[in-house]
Amino acid sequence: MRRVRVVLLVKAEVMCRDEDRKLLKRLGFSVDTWGEVVVVFLEEKGNSVISVMPLGLKLLENCSLSGRLFRGSRIYDYILNTGVRELKCKICISEDPLLFYAAVYEKKKVTKVFKKSLCPRSYCSVCLSGSCIFSLAREEDVITLELHVDRVVIRRALPKVFTRASAALIEALVWLTKVPYMSCEEVEKVVEWVELLKTSVYRSSQQKVFKELADEIFSKTIELVKNVEDSRCRPRDKNV
Ligand SMILES: Cc1cc2nc3c(=O)[nH]c(=O)nc-3n(C[C@H](O)[C@H](O)[C@H](O)COP(=O)(O)O)c2cc1C
Repeated sequence: MRRVRVVLLVKAEVMCRDEDRKLLKRLGFSVDTWGEVVVVFLEEKGNSVISVMPLGLKLLENCSLSGRLFRGSRIYDYILNTGVRELKCKICISEDPLLFYAAVYEKKKVTKVFKKSLCPRSYCSVCLSGSCIFSLAREEDVITLELHVDRVVIRRALPKVFTRASAALIEALVWLTKVPYMSCEEVEKVVEWVELLKTSVYRSSQQKVFKELADEIFSKTIELVKNVEDSRCRPRDKNV
């Protein structure tokens, strides 16, 4: 008699209590709008940090959150190279543009702070921790991430007022990080967009640190645009 191997595929049900979903919604996560956070990816064992980066997350139908990791980020390469499909991760919820900037350009400093604390008070209003599960998306160059939240730590109970300066700074930073992957047409326009956002910061805040950050993002954008144009947008010899 031929032996038939039967494999039972049991789809793991993710526990999702009403109150857990409500809490994620109260924190501002939704199914239709990206919520911008800073994510810290940790090695499976221990607490060593693999990567820190700003990331957009949306609420899924259950109690998990979903994000997209684009080719070009270190964590994208790490996942492809190691074949890892799950990592422990921490999510820092903050509206501080200085943290978002540091998570892109001062990673060593941010990593050090997150190594010391699950949820550093100086950076985060609320932290989530749990497992990040990865799968290759149908879209090319994207790895999707699904976060199952195990724990929520609240550091700041009071909300802060909305500031145009923070919003403009985070938006300008998003454009800056996209420059290397933009089409030449978009690259031509991005300096103008970032300049507009810089004006918005100057008009809505007198805080020196915000103005300095706006200047820094603007000058980095000009520099990066020049590099991109020189390397792949300008015809090598215009007279040909
Ligand atoms: C507010 C904000 C949101 C971002 N969201 C994403 C995202 O959802 N997915 C992504 O791959 N990169 C996103 N980025 C860009 C990465 O965070 C950025 O390129 C980062 O520096 C990559 O880290 P790495 O240099 O260690 O690879 C975002 C950047 C900002 C400022």
